[in-house]
Amino acid sequence: KLPLQVSTRQLVGPNGTPVGSLMLVTDLRLRRDLEAEKAKAERLDVVNKVVAGIAHEIKNPLSSMTTHTQLLREKYDDPEFREFFRSTVTGDLGRVNDVVEKFVQWTQPSKRELSLQDIHLILDEALSSLKNGRIPENIRVSTRYHASLPEIKGDPKELAKGFSSIIYNSVEAMPDGGNLTISTLSDSQYVKVSISDTGAGIPPEQLEEIWDPLFSTKNRGIGLGLPIARKIIEGHGGKIEVRSEPEKGSTFQVFLPIP
Ligand SMILES: Nc1ncnc2c1ncn2[C@@H]1O[C@H](COP(=O)(O)OP(=O)(O)OP(=O)(O)O)[C@@H](O)[C@H]1O
Ligand SMILES: [Mg+2]
Repeated sequence: KLPLQVSTRQLVGPNGTPVGSLMLVTDLRLRRDLEAEKAKAERLDVVNKVVAGIAHEIKNPLSSMTTHTQLLREKYDDPEFREFFRSTVTGDLGRVNDVVEKFVQWTQPSKRELSLQDIHLILDEALSSLKNGRIPENIRVSTRYHASLPEIKGDPKELAKGFSSIIYNSVEAMPDGGNLTISTLSDSQYVKVSISDTGAGIPPEQLEEIWDPLFSTKNRGIGLGLPIARKIIEGHGGKIEVRSEPEKGSTFQVFLPIP
């Protein structure tokens, strides 16, 4: 089979009478091949960027571990150093693990196990998974949970991961402290969760970009938190939206369908 484009036209003489017709047949193989090449090059470009991003994120903790391991030999008898070594290396390993886990989560199709869930338990889980020292004292967390919400259908672990990415972004947006508010509501179609912060906000020209894989404005950011959260929420038939005002803060709204 050949991809062909056929167009026809009537040829008209000087006094308006038809004198014949023209049929134009274009072989589209070259255009098709060029388009395929272009799509392939774009995919490769994304892969290259992702690999470079991941390599960069893994290299820092690795070189920190290398340095500390070299020092360990001469400082082994110093108990203070041993404790310092333990906590630094644990932190570095945590970072490597974080990067790998995020990468896998973003690339692999998930094995979702759906069941009826109370959204508030999922949000509490997302919050407590962050509380291991990750929410600083100067951030006030308040939850405004609607008293009677219908259950949603979802994978609780996966959803908690998605919410914790969004919540942690809010925490990171408030380095000098502020308020983090998580509230819930519902209408006839959706359970709505809104996550608000009084942080740095997002410039209007970045409101689209923040969803792109690897878009990050942070020193220690991979730029996969929001793409993963969105993938999880859309995978549950939901949607996620953002409103933000620079200097004032941001609100992420998640809609999950009521089954
Ligand atoms: N609540 C927020 N307030 C301000 N900016 C935000 C907020 N949430 C996201 N952003 C912006 O969107 C970008 C992308 O967020 P995303 O979570 O995808 O990546 P990241 O936080 O930079 O890195 P990581 O992969 O570690 O999560 C952030 O770098 C930040 O610029
Ligand atoms: Mg993030």
